[in-house]
Amino acid sequence: MRMEAYQECIDPACRLRYPIDEFRITCERGHALDVKYASTPSKSLKDVFYARRNHGNNIYNESGVWRFRDLINFAQIDTEEYEECKKYLVSLDGAEGRLSKPFKMSKVAEYVGMDKDCLFLQPEGYNPSGSFKDNGMATALTHAKMLNVKKIMCASTGNTSASAAMYASNEGILCEVYVPRGEIAIGKLGQALQFGAQVVEVDGNFDDALQIMLREAKSSNAYVVNSVNPFRIEGQKAIVYRALEYLDWNPPDWLVYPGGALGNTSSAGKCLMELYEWGWIKKVPRLAIINAEGANTLYTLYNGKFNGRALRWNKGKVDLELIGEYYAYMDKQNIRPRTDATAIQIGRPANLLKGLRALEFTNGVVEQVSDGEMYDGMAVVGLNGFDCELASGAVPAGIKKLREMEVIKSDDIVVGILTGRQKDPNLVIRYHMDANRRFAVTPRAYKDLKKDTK
Ligand code: F0G
Repeated sequence: MRMEAYQECIDPACRLRYPIDEFRITCERGHALDVKYASTPSKSLKDVFYARRNHGNNIYNESGVWRFRDLINFAQIDTEEYEECKKYLVSLDGAEGRLSKPFKMSKVAEYVGMDKDCLFLQPEGYNPSGSFKDNGMATALTHAKMLNVKKIMCASTGNTSASAAMYASNEGILCEVYVPRGEIAIGKLGQALQFGAQVVEVDGNFDDALQIMLREAKSSNAYVVNSVNPFRIEGQKAIVYRALEYLDWNPPDWLVYPGGALGNTSSAGKCLMELYEWGWIKKVPRLAIINAEGANTLYTLYNGKFNGRALRWNKGKVDLELIGEYYAYMDKQNIRPRTDATAIQIGRPANLLKGLRALEFTNGVVEQVSDGEMYDGMAVVGLNGFDCELASGAVPAGIKKLREMEVIKSDDIVVGILTGRQKDPNLVIRYHMDANRRFAVTPRAYKDLKKDTK
């Protein structure tokens, strides 16, 4: 079967292929799928991408996702024409990825122990729904549109549901979102409701919500937009394209992400594998994935903290028994993921295998940070005039830790992805009310201020 774009199972011993216009989450043997392209994109596209920054009123050039459309071209379009793009590509008026690029943040650099010219943070919260999810939702909805889908579904810790609901409402598609009751930031819940989604509250955590939603989606034939959908992963590659383009396609030494379901890091890994294979990059940045201490499945398994066996992709021969043993242990001991960073409060990362593949390809590392460290990370980003949510605070916190361990060297070039915008101001207010917190500036009563200056 010769196809320009197709889907392929990630298991090297299986490699089943499917046409691009089919929707499935796994191959028939249960392995995750990749979107694959038959041809090698020309390096001259780098100039085309740059030229499109002068967008000429074409929202598909304005979009920080679709500007790179030739590298995520499963819709098989070859045109600069707005009207032609419009027939196939889903965009929220070009807003996805438009404002996010690497920024230098001197106060964060000082805090993590790096030179201010070596550290870049990319605020993906500055997407239209306030998180990196919009990068992948634009592409998932494009695939849904290709298939004439009438209803999408997802389970979510809040940002996926906000993004899905936003694009679905804009496209006139029904949207149903499954969320863990009481465990998502209020701003995220508000977004899903405001964008007209049917919210379904699950008594349980994200892992439970995902299982229930997948069951429901199967029985109602709905299109799933979680990151187990390979078309989501395609769009999120644009996060890396923007970072690389900003650095003139000179790869940094490190890319640092918070780890939850591992969709984002799977996407970064696939992106780098392709760019390397195509000869676009000669050096592969190392991935650093940062777990919350209270939701640290990847950290535990990757670093051999459970049963002394370090879980690896191992060229596709993953120790699945180890994963099974750990999940059984979690169930038996009633270990539930627990962190204030509810975005990454996940115990069973749905993209674990793809995440391991990304770590192997990039010689990556996995670290964990406490909630307290994430709060300080979030706060210091604020001192540079950017906002991010607590899960994104894992990025500065993780870089600091890896610097202290000398895993990241002082002259390494580091790009950290700030995955989402602040959607729970109560967390910020609580932090600053506590004068013992490192960056707290506690509000003061006017009358006391007057007393002190007398
Ligand atoms: N940061 C934020 C702000 C997130 O919302 C998420 C995931 C992650 C990091 C982790 O990314 O899952 O690709 O490893 N949020 C999902 C959701 C689970 O439902 O919104 P990941």
